[in-house]
Amino acid sequence: MKSGMDDVIAAETLLSHVDGEAGRLVIRGHDLEELAGRVSFEDTTGLLWSGVVATPDGRLSEAIGQGRAAAFERFRPLAACGGGLSPIEAMRLLLSRIGDADDLATPAGLLGATGTAAAMAIRLSHGEPPLAPDPTASHAEDILRMVRGSTPSSAAANALDAYLVAIIDHGLNASTFAARVVASTGAGAVSSVIAALCALKGPLHGGAPGPVLDMLDAAAAHGDVRAWLVAELDAGRRLMGFGHRIYRTRDPRADVLKAALAQMGGSSGRAALAGRLEAAALALLAERKAGRRLDVNVEFYTALLLDAVGLPRQGFTPVFAAGRAAGWLAHAVEQETSGRLIRPQSLYLGSMPDRAA
Ligand code: ACO
Repeated sequence: MKSGMDDVIAAETLLSHVDGEAGRLVIRGHDLEELAGRVSFEDTTGLLWSGVVATPDGRLSEAIGQGRAAAFERFRPLAACGGGLSPIEAMRLLLSRIGDADDLATPAGLLGATGTAAAMAIRLSHGEPPLAPDPTASHAEDILRMVRGSTPSSAAANALDAYLVAIIDHGLNASTFAARVVASTGAGAVSSVIAALCALKGPLHGGAPGPVLDMLDAAAAHGDVRAWLVAELDAGRRLMGFGHRIYRTRDPRADVLKAALAQMGGSSGRAALAGRLEAAALALLAERKAGRRLDVNVEFYTALLLDAVGLPRQGFTPVFAAGRAAGWLAHAVEQETSGRLIRPQSLYLGSMPDRAA
């Protein structure tokens, strides 16, 4: 029995490889550093999906844009039901509107739909009317515009594009595994995406970047960053944006995002505070958890980047989903193609009935 299934290999994949010891992430034969900030999210999706997911030849970008537009029409009638829900809860509600037989239930359509659902859910949670997508814009630019209500600068759109590429796929993480488990039953791509979204929602997975900003705000309000961190650790709380189940060194996505943030230009007081907090946290974690290398993870710089491009913190996890959906869909197709139902066993620890009685 492996608690948390550490080191258990539960799938074969062509899609991505995480080398936790070397701090390396390979996406379809390419190091992440070759892609993020250099190749667009749409082209990286094409690369990830090639030979695995059937895509419209040379028209993937267009198909994703059309998916965003078609989803808007499907989701609009649900707008009145989104009030009082958090963005990620509203996103779950919106995606449930897509039926298995819907024209939208193709990989490109569903990828577009997650972008629209993310933007719409963020606006609904702020009591703002949803904005229609522009199918000709890039996924990154359109999501930003639909959330913020104005065309973003190219620097902001490029930074978000680099982010979407950085998180496009990441081995058999919890949400991707959830997508594969559901796909293995033959339940279909819509169900796989919704299951994955539900897994992503938790703070130990995709729900951490919002709390990273909360942590930075609390440390800033305290005034003494190190003392604040010591108090958190003394209280037995985890520092958000640090530690990873697989990486035993720096998460390579953190550096890619740090570079994208620098590329955006401008430096905020929050970035300077983040630098101080990162250094102090790494020193404290090394001291207190000497047997376990705890380094910065993707969520730390995600929080800073998504904040810098103008997304509200409650919207971070939905936007993560809008990029990771490309990975979920590819894994779901790969799993379904293998045709093998995922059905592990449990170790029974309860009592047995007394047969003799
Ligand atoms: N702050 C303080 N202590 C930590 C942290 C942290 N961020 N992460 C792990 N530890 C400690 C644990 O308390 C534990 O200590 P103990 O052995 O004295 O009990 C030890 O390090 C090992 O922890 P595990 O739970 O075995 O580590 P695991 O691999 O299960 O956890 C996880 C990985 C969940 C990411 C964890 O590091 C964590 O909670 N981090 C904070 C939340 C976060 O940043 N989540 C985003 C992850 S990235 C992603 O999913 C996309």
